[in-house]
Amino acid sequence: MQNDLEKILFHEQTILSRLDVLAQEITAEYRDKELTVIAVLNGSIIFAADLLRRIPLALKLDCVSVASYHGGTASTGQVTFDQISVPDVSGRHVLIVDDILDSGRTLFAIQEKLFAEARPLSAKVCVLLRKIKERAKPAEADFVGFDIADEFVVGYGLDYQENYRNLPLIGVLRAELVTNSGR
Ligand code: IMP
Ligand code: MG
Repeated sequence: MQNDLEKILFHEQTILSRLDVLAQEITAEYRDKELTVIAVLNGSIIFAADLLRRIPLALKLDCVSVASYHGGTASTGQVTFDQISVPDVSGRHVLIVDDILDSGRTLFAIQEKLFAEARPLSAKVCVLLRKIKERAKPAEADFVGFDIADEFVVGYGLDYQENYRNLPLIGVLRAELVTNSGR
C-alpha cells in the first residue's frame, strides 16, 4: 500500500502526538458540559477511535454515515445520508468529528440536518485534516489536527475507492493511480 504513495505527509507518531494536544483542547472545552460526539463514517473511524480514548470525559458517541464522493477524488456536490434521522442530542453539546474538511459540503449538510431535526445546545466541528482552499459551502472547523495543501490524501481512515483506510500514516496518492471517472 505504501508504495502507492507519492509522498508521506504525517507518520503515525506525528499524528498521535498531535491527537494528544487536540484531545486536551477538547477536554478543556467540554469539561463541565454534556457532550455527544457524532463521528462521521467511514472516514473518521480511525481518527475518532484514537482521539476519543484520549478524552477522559463521560461523553456519548454516535455516528452518521454520509457519502459525497461516489468513487472519484472530488466531491459530487450532493451529500447523501445513509440513515433517516440524526442522533437525539436535545439539551446536549455536540462535537462532530470528521476526517477532513474539503469542499465543506459534508459538514455543512450534517450541521443543517442536525439543527433542523434536533435541538443541540451547541455544535462544533473537529477534523483531522483541513485543506487550504476555497469552500463550496460555509463550513468551518473549531478543532483541527493539521492544515494541508489541496491534494488527494489517503490513510488513517481516508480512502480512495474504499482502499487505504488502514494505512497507519497519511500520504498523497500517486497521480497515475487516481482516475476521476467517479466525478
Ligand atoms: P467535503 O464534503 O468536500 O468537505 O468532503 C468531505 C469528505 O470527502 C470527507 O469526509 C472525506 O470522506 C472525503 N475527502 C475529501 N478530501 C479527501 C481526500 O483528500 N482524500 C480522501 N477523502 C477525502
Ligand atoms: Mg471518503
